[in-house]
Amino acid sequence: QNSDSRTLLKMYSDAAKLYSHILTKTENGTPALKYLKNRDLSDDLIQTFGIGYAPNNNNLLLQFFKDREITEDVLRKSGLFAENQEGELFDRFRDRVMIPITDESGNIIAFSGRVLDKNASTAKYLNSPETEIFNKGKTLFNLNNAKKEIREKGNVILFEGFMDVISAYKAGVTNGVASMGTSLTDDQLYVLSRLTDKINVCYDGDDPGVEATYRALTQLTDDRFTYGVISIPDKKDPDEYIRSEGAQKFQNLANGGVQTPISFILNYFKRNYNLNNEHDQLEFLNQSLQEIVKLQSPVEVDMYVGKVADEMGVSKESINKELDSLRRQME
Ligand code: UTP
Ligand code: MN
Ligand code: MN
Ligand code: MN
Ligand code: MN
Repeated sequence: QNSDSRTLLKMYSDAAKLYSHILTKTENGTPALKYLKNRDLSDDLIQTFGIGYAPNNNNLLLQFFKDREITEDVLRKSGLFAENQEGELFDRFRDRVMIPITDESGNIIAFSGRVLDKNASTAKYLNSPETEIFNKGKTLFNLNNAKKEIREKGNVILFEGFMDVISAYKAGVTNGVASMGTSLTDDQLYVLSRLTDKINVCYDGDDPGVEATYRALTQLTDDRFTYGVISIPDKKDPDEYIRSEGAQKFQNLANGGVQTPISFILNYFKRNYNLNNEHDQLEFLNQSLQEIVKLQSPVEVDMYVGKVADEMGVSKESINKELDSLRRQME
């Protein structure tokens, strides 16, 4: 670590302390604290995740670090400031709930700031830019807290959002991480591969989340892992589900409701067809067979052939014949 990196780590740590202090100990933080309480986040949980509040002030953090004789060069490299048209620095995060992002050892290396007002015209989450200490593609939110549990449980749960990870943690599901708004990179997969060989995708249950799950399953072909899907009902995201249904129901879902990728994919295809209509039935059958044919395990193939046969009211023999002809075409 060079001296700039060490200074940046110290700055992020100090900034997080300042934001936390403002949230929990000052009047300026009251609306943000209320917002978090409305989302069922306890003082303990706010403490555990080091959540804070950046007030609506252009140079609070700027002045704080100028007072501590941080050089202009380092201020610019820190990612904590933006630049106006005159080239002057100002605080990047204003009037946002601040979620610290840590590296694997728990050092704070970035922030994500959430707006309080859902009608605000700016992005809901504002993330730190990449810096000498923050490489987005190598970072997984909450990995430092979750590491031990991932090893012990033998799997990691991949969420879409910070708040999903935090709510799951609150609900006792502590092996969750989130990538930073993108699909998993090779670097992130490498980090996970040292901890576990099973990744359970638990994205939002809304349409974009279901699409993202399908995309993730088609992209996650790294054979160091097996994959599973935890589907959240009623188009909720995990955080909303936990808040409306409670911790126990989410635990049941996370521990006992893991679907295989093929099972998710068949359901995903099914949504697009009207299975009362023979044309759609055939299309669904063909699309399903294209997936089933990719399965490695004969037992799994047999199981899904059985499912599709039942569903379509056709014989397993005829489906197996179709599969044989697909296999011949693929040779
Ligand atoms: P969602 O829109 O599902 O947000 O985006 P959320 O996690 O449910 O957030 P809350 O509950 O409204 O607070 C999922 C994730 O996509 C990234 C964030 O990582 C977010 O958690 N995202 C979303 C951004 O980076 N920027 C945005 O403006 C929106
Ligand atoms: Mn295992
Ligand atoms: Mn979403
Ligand atoms: Mn969401
Ligand atoms: Mn949410």
